[in-house]
Amino acid sequence: MVIEYIRYRVPQQRRAGFEAAYERAADALRAAPECVDYELSRCLDDPACYALRITWTSVDAHLDGFRGGPVFGRFFAAIKPYVADIEEMRHYTRTGVRGPGGAAPPSLFEWAGGTDAFERLCAAFYRLVRSDDLLAPMFARMDPDHARYVAVWLAEVFGGPATYAAERGGYRQMVGQHLGRAISEAQRRRWVNLMTDAADEVGLPGDPEFRAAFVGYLEWGTRLAVRNSQPDADPIQQAPVPRWGWGVAPPYQHGPQSTVARGAE
Ligand code: HEM
Repeated sequence: MVIEYIRYRVPQQRRAGFEAAYERAADALRAAPECVDYELSRCLDDPACYALRITWTSVDAHLDGFRGGPVFGRFFAAIKPYVADIEEMRHYTRTGVRGPGGAAPPSLFEWAGGTDAFERLCAAFYRLVRSDDLLAPMFARMDPDHARYVAVWLAEVFGGPATYAAERGGYRQMVGQHLGRAISEAQRRRWVNLMTDAADEVGLPGDPEFRAAFVGYLEWGTRLAVRNSQPDADPIQQAPVPRWGWGVAPPYQHGPQSTVARGAE
């Protein structure tokens, strides 16, 4: 792999056009098998300066494959008006000096808004459950604090404090509550749908990465709940409370219709 750095100096009155041109040109990079990834950064100290980093599979792949290939025409058409603004355009190779820093990404719990957010989520969810034909009967005799217990469970799963494990009985208590309930696929699906509706209602983050991770857990957890609740089930009862992370959603690309992306600022 090689890294191409292109440094631009673009006068203020042309900056918006420049960034829009690269939004269009990026379509061609996304379609190019020679391109591993790319990133355009604007200088904070001198906003006229931009650095474009493109990782290519090799120099030949860039110069022969990409430039001779089918998408180069639209790439070049978009950025052509800015060629005269280029200050440097060279290929680099990586050295051994690289690695992650010490900053940890926020947990899903922090990103969602902490304990309050999960309490609001579960309060909204059980309001919806109470008037739902498929689910209301199953929750008719639920513990008055049930919504709060589930909020505390979810908060712990998504990286918050380990309160459910410490104060409510952990995994064993949660599994025990589902035993013998014979949850159907239709009820499971409704549970996921209402949880997603509740997430929208209380304004949990709508960015693709958060929602992919959030719904990923709901799918996983509800499918286990169905399995564990069947009359012949014999689930493991002693296990740690699961911890759920961001997963592998590819970085979100800003587009004209985009919402704010995680980590894009
Ligand atoms: C990700 C999926 C799920 C999670 C994380 C979850 C979580 C929990 C937790 C933590 C409890 C125990 C609360 C306590 O400590 O008392 C519980 C109880 C319960 N769950 Fe689930 N659950 C899930 C899926 C489902 C599904 C799909 C259903 C049915 C459609 C269901 C029905 C129930 C019922 C009926 C109880 C007992 C409520 C009561 O009587 O207090 N759960 N759940």
